[in-house]
Amino acid sequence: MIQVNKNISLLEYNTFGIDVSAETMVVYDSVDDLTELIHHSLCNFPKPILHIGEGSNLLFLEDFRGTILRSNINNVNVIEQNDDHVIVQVGAGWNMDDFISYSISKGWYGLENLSKIPGQVGSSAVQNIGAYGVEVGDFIYSVNCISIADGTYRKFSHDECNFMYRHSIFKSPEYRGKYVVTSVEYKLNLDFTPHIDYGGIRQQIDLLGETPETLSAQKLRDIISNIREEKLPDPKVYGNAGSFFMNPIVDRDTYNKLVSCYPNIPKYEIDSNNVKIPAAWLIEQCGWKGKTVGHVGVHPKQPLVLINLGGATGKEIQNMSDTIRHEVLDKFGISIIPEVNFI
Ligand code: FAD
Ligand code: EPU
Repeated sequence: MIQVNKNISLLEYNTFGIDVSAETMVVYDSVDDLTELIHHSLCNFPKPILHIGEGSNLLFLEDFRGTILRSNINNVNVIEQNDDHVIVQVGAGWNMDDFISYSISKGWYGLENLSKIPGQVGSSAVQNIGAYGVEVGDFIYSVNCISIADGTYRKFSHDECNFMYRHSIFKSPEYRGKYVVTSVEYKLNLDFTPHIDYGGIRQQIDLLGETPETLSAQKLRDIISNIREEKLPDPKVYGNAGSFFMNPIVDRDTYNKLVSCYPNIPKYEIDSNNVKIPAAWLIEQCGWKGKTVGHVGVHPKQPLVLINLGGATGKEIQNMSDTIRHEVLDKFGISIIPEVNFI
């Protein structure tokens, strides 16, 4: 089925809670519906075309005068299974966290640390979502797509996806907006090996009287869910899109120079040449933690998250983001790049 709506409010379709509208929204249920749409009627709909998921990483700056596409494809098929792993194809319209819960119930492991990240399965591949030491790209076998231009099918292998920190080929200038992800094939383990080295997880395991040997995938999911609930604001209370900025990656020389001025500057090791600096720390040092300007705030527990205090416009949030970026650049000489997609 294909549903077409005109002049639709996007309030329910973006977690920042920005009150804008779209000229047209088209929701489709299957790959056949999508290809039919592209072959027969999409050319008559207003442009530009934007495919969205749950709108949890979008910032609308104004009403969208074009056509929004949304997927309701929610099938799941096992493609291959042996003693060691399963390859499972999941429709792009499934909620990612529902799939993680489902995969744990089936005894398919690997995605536990990504529990409770908002958004759809299709976007998980576009964004290469990550949390608590795991990136979804590590578990993506391939991504099935349809070209928006002519409705042709293309499968992107894991290597072609070019997954990097919060990046994939689908975000590159050459491919952005050109393909609709229709399903993602995840390669998951049948043995559970917990990833527990990221800050705070081991401590929680100890508090529960568990050990890495007794810990189940469901318990790890619960621990991650609790840590996230503690740190991140609920978009239903304060509109937000998670981390507004990515954590900057700098070379070791730059980091060493910063250490001489700021001995406490934290880092995560990336490789022998590069380290990642928590943008939250840079923003806090500039005095922004908990600060508010008009309808926009910097989350008091996590300065990487900008929040809509109620009634904020996309432009107000963009203005605060610009000011923070300038101040971090002036103080530290580091450019912090938004993770959020400005529309
Ligand atoms: P949208 O925001 O709707 O779209 C994101 C991008 O994907 C857009 O460019 C869109 O055009 C494209 N897209 C969507 N669907 C398709 C499709 N089928 N085909 C092609 N392109 C498509 N992210 C993390 O990585 N780690 C976190 O820990 C994390 N925590 C968060 C916590 C909160 C409270 C919130 C609100 C967000 C958080 N995020 C996190 C960000 C967000 O959840 C992810 O970026 C998520 O993948 C976005 O999914 P979505 O379905 O909402 O996509
Ligand atoms: N920090 C501060 N002040 C604060 C909070 C944090 O200085 O008030 C510093 C501390 O040094 C802390 C460090 O920031 O150790 C890291 O904080 P945290 O563990 O909360 O992680 P993060 O870097 O802020 C990243 C991701 C999150 C992901 C978590 C957990 C990015 C941009 N963000 O946040 O992803 O959930 O790690 O893995 O990489 C998202 O992308 O939307 C997102 C929420």
